[in-house]
Amino acid sequence: MPRHVAIIMDGNGRWATARHLPRAAGHSKGVDRVEEIVEACIVRGITHLTLFAFSSENWRRPADEVSLLMRLFIGTLERQVARLHTNGIRLQIIGDLGRFEPRLRELIDVAHRKTMDNERLTLTIAANYGGRTDILDAFRKLVVARPEVAADPALVTEEALAPYLAMHDAPEPDLFIRTGGEQRISNFLLWQLAYTELYFTDVHWPSFDATELDRAIASYRMRERRFGRTSAQVGG
Ligand code: IPE
Ligand code: IPE
Ligand code: MG
Repeated sequence: MPRHVAIIMDGNGRWATARHLPRAAGHSKGVDRVEEIVEACIVRGITHLTLFAFSSENWRRPADEVSLLMRLFIGTLERQVARLHTNGIRLQIIGDLGRFEPRLRELIDVAHRKTMDNERLTLTIAANYGGRTDILDAFRKLVVARPEVAADPALVTEEALAPYLAMHDAPEPDLFIRTGGEQRISNFLLWQLAYTELYFTDVHWPSFDATELDRAIASYRMRERRFGRTSAQVGG
């Protein structure tokens, strides 16, 4: 079983368009799927689930779609945080939260504080997240925290940088899933995905259910993770 699953929840718009529905219908159906997949992960013993909900590039969408996504985010936090907490879920939001409206930032802050000691599943939502910015921010924080690094580039190591990355307290993702048929990373967890097993499916996110999750996990279990070694070395 993977410990950490990271998902790009893509295809909401196309799911809706294929059904002659407004894109908004795809987004709200997508929110319902989150609930189902969170439950499925807990049942399967997955300890970390990271979901890409809004990229730093998604601001480029039409203003009405962006505002709909923000309202959905707010509504979901208002309705679901208590239940997540009861279910032992630790909720984390990563990304540049500064650009969000105050009400959303406040809900995120409350959710963080309320659920921070929960241990059954760490659910991380990437919102206004970009992988390149994550790495650059980490580097800036490292230099501020340890000014000697600026004078001695040899001090810039993976180990030195890692604590400043957004997902520093989680194991690296074992399994990456992208729904919706595109085969790209779209500036998701660039650093953290270095040795993650990648799984792409044409299924749109609003149709991605526990059975589809099991397909992805079955594919993952067929993989041999070598981390640069030979098959013989890893016992294949
Ligand atoms: C993913 O679905 C949700 C977000 C990016 C917020 P899309 O909205 O990208 O759906 P498609 O790719 O247009 O079908
Ligand atoms: C990636 O999906 C971001 C999220 C799912 C939140 P996009 O639909 O924005 O990605 P591109 O534009 O097709 O690469
Ligand atoms: Mg898309």
